[in-house]
Amino acid sequence: MSVWAKHQIFEKNSIVLLLGILVVVAIGGLVEVAPLYYLKSTIETVQGMRPYTPLELAGRNIYVREGCYNCHSQMIRPLRDEVERYGHYSLAAESMYDHPFQWGSKRTGPDLARVGGKYSDEWQRAHLINPRSVAPVSIMPGYPFLATTPLDYEHIADELQAQAVVGVPYTADMIAKAKSDIVTQATTDDPGAADLAKRYPKALARDFDGNPGEVTEMDALVAYLQVLGTMVDFKTYDDKANVR
Ligand code: HEC
Repeated sequence: MSVWAKHQIFEKNSIVLLLGILVVVAIGGLVEVAPLYYLKSTIETVQGMRPYTPLELAGRNIYVREGCYNCHSQMIRPLRDEVERYGHYSLAAESMYDHPFQWGSKRTGPDLARVGGKYSDEWQRAHLINPRSVAPVSIMPGYPFLATTPLDYEHIADELQAQAVVGVPYTADMIAKAKSDIVTQATTDDPGAADLAKRYPKALARDFDGNPGEVTEMDALVAYLQVLGTMVDFKTYDDKANVR
């Protein structure tokens, strides 16, 4: 039987053809995907990127829980209209500690990848409680309960530990201090702020929810929003140095 005649086995038997297709596609997939897991250059390292603080991580969990990603992306594409509106396009490295990443696929509202520092904490609070109070035609729902719900951070150390399992470089020290770091970061002028900044460079520590004495879900979510897109300093970031 010639080689071409053998091909008839596949052509005449759909199950064998299907299995054959699967094998070929799997090989192609492996060749494309497998190297990404061990090539160091898959994710460029960029100065300034650090893991989220426990408070920011808790805020991120609320962002996921409330489904903010259904209306907001966190991925600025390298297109002129996006870069002019939102700022420098998103770098792969900026999502390296995001598990799961929040790129999103829908923009009912604006992209939030660089919203950190764009507004004051007061604006963020007022907006989250009732978006219409600062953006009169907004169709974003209000989340007033965030301001009155105490943040549940009983298991925050476990959260850090779980992130460490998937590759976020949380140290034993960071995990041990996770709970006290939450309180420190949500308090203005807390004596532990300098120590917190050693673990998490440039972490903003202040009373994000305007309600001293209580750590609420609002503290966590605003802390998270205020750090978005601010870790990499784009004044000193050199695009060309990263081109390979
Ligand atoms: C139903 C869609 C929808 C959902 C869900 C939603 N938003 Fe929005 N968001 C919008 C729209 C529309 C705007 C633009 C109008 C405005 O500023 O309110 C907006 C604006 C914003 C802005 C201001 C962005 C800027 O650059 O001006 C922030 C911050 C924000 N949303 C955060 C959140 C967070 C955090 C959540 C989840 C707790 C959330 N949004 C959920 C639709 C949504």
